[in-house]
Amino acid sequence: MEKLQLTTTFAVYSSTAELPQHIAALMEQAVAVRKRSYAPYSKFHVGAALLLSNGEVVLGSNQENAAYPSGLCAERVAIFHAGAVYPDAAVVAMAISAAAESKVVTQPIPPCGACRQSIAEYELKQETPIEIYFMGEEGKVYCSESLKNLLPLTFGGEYL
Ligand code: THU
Repeated sequence: MEKLQLTTTFAVYSSTAELPQHIAALMEQAVAVRKRSYAPYSKFHVGAALLLSNGEVVLGSNQENAAYPSGLCAERVAIFHAGAVYPDAAVVAMAISAAAESKVVTQPIPPCGACRQSIAEYELKQETPIEIYFMGEEGKVYCSESLKNLLPLTFGGEYL
């Protein structure tokens, strides 16, 4: 038996003020769209903004449903929208911001497992990494330079 050790690295920015200017602007759009999320059940609001290789920005926010599993996370709303409207453009960066109604979220909120798998599909398809920046409502911003850092041993179509 041998052990396979996988390490993962994130850049940690102390606040949005430290981000590169174009990413700070993208995060501002994630915050703005977060405020338009539809989350009457969880009261947890998430916004995602994608910067595409053609310069377009595509937005998403979580959309909940009374039949709970029918709702969708902000990240998947955004990336499916990008795939539907700009199928030939690569996703360069994703900015995510999350806020709760009950408290101020100060820790970075990472994408859930299902969103990671969905983002992986696009990273594998475009063959270039997607930078993922995520934060709460305020405070630190974590950056993963590729989805692979968030989902080591990624399952993809090459196994099928
Ligand atoms: N949510 C997201 O939008 N993105 C995530 O990665 C985690 C969770 C949403 C789904 C649901 O509407 C609410 O946050 C609470 O789970």
